[in-house]
Amino acid sequence: MAVTKAEQRLCERLRLCGDEAQALLHAMHAGDAGRIAVALSPRAPQGYEPPFACADASDFPWLPARVRIPAVGERPTQYPDYKAGMYYVLDLSSCWEGAALSALPRTPERSLDMCAAPGGKTVLLAAQTELRDHTANEVNAARRGILRQNAGRCGLPNTRVTGLRPEQWARSGELFDLILADAPCSGQSLLCKGIKNPGCLGAATVRGNAKRQRGILLAAVRCLAPGGYLLYTTCTYDPEENERTVAYLLRRVDGFMACEVASLAAYRTALADFPAYRLLPHHGAGAGGFCCLLKRDNK
Ligand SMILES: C[S@@+](CC[C@H](N)C(=O)[O-])C[C@H]1O[C@@H](n2cnc3c(N)ncnc32)[C@H](O)[C@@H]1O
Repeated sequence: MAVTKAEQRLCERLRLCGDEAQALLHAMHAGDAGRIAVALSPRAPQGYEPPFACADASDFPWLPARVRIPAVGERPTQYPDYKAGMYYVLDLSSCWEGAALSALPRTPERSLDMCAAPGGKTVLLAAQTELRDHTANEVNAARRGILRQNAGRCGLPNTRVTGLRPEQWARSGELFDLILADAPCSGQSLLCKGIKNPGCLGAATVRGNAKRQRGILLAAVRCLAPGGYLLYTTCTYDPEENERTVAYLLRRVDGFMACEVASLAAYRTALADFPAYRLLPHHGAGAGGFCCLLKRDNK
């Protein structure tokens, strides 16, 4: 396997060496680490099970209760139940990121998914808690259309779809007690799913994404009610877009702390001095991702 300088740099930045570095590089080259999951939607009644074979959930102790992992070879979108909106198909790694919501102490009264399209994290939220007053926001008009379709298909209750930019949210005066910021990122994990993503390891790409993510987070915290929670997630590996972006926020804004997520303890990153979690392809739950749950203090 011929390793590029950019790949080598990534391993160094992640402080991966030996077998771990080899495993990441192998996954990036093989492109076969992707794995899908399905989140049961509010349309699926209690006791509903999808009409296809699923993997044993006990192998994934962090898996939210209303998420299933189709057995290898199953194609969940081929069943009428998919069209009927009983479930939403997404990456298993996305479900791992969303599992951080298990640390929320109560059902949010008002929630905002700031980067919501096509709708995976919003459906995951609905799979884990009641949606009482939810906003699914997407800046890109075409993607917003898909988000609207998915929200309708999955029967998301009490949900409005909006298209404000982060700085518009920051000025809106609206407050939420849960905000999801599943930020646009360099998408390095796409490589491990066999999807070409030229330049995703480049320093300029990473820097540009980190800058945009910081802007999104700074806007998000202005919409967070006292005592509220902010879940930051990405599907990329570079620490600049993950640990360092959260560290930047914690430096810049007073009154925030990163929360422990007991179900993800095994994935705690060593690259931060606060609780945050990273998944890599060789952990066996898809192509990987990052998550950090932040809490605003009560003042
Ligand atoms: C990782 S995707 C979100 C995936 C979605 N949360 C899901 O689970 O299905 C990031 C989204 O952020 C949107 N986006 C791009 N630039 C943005 C910006 N500057 N501010 C807010 N959102 C942005 C993209 O259009 C994209 O839909």
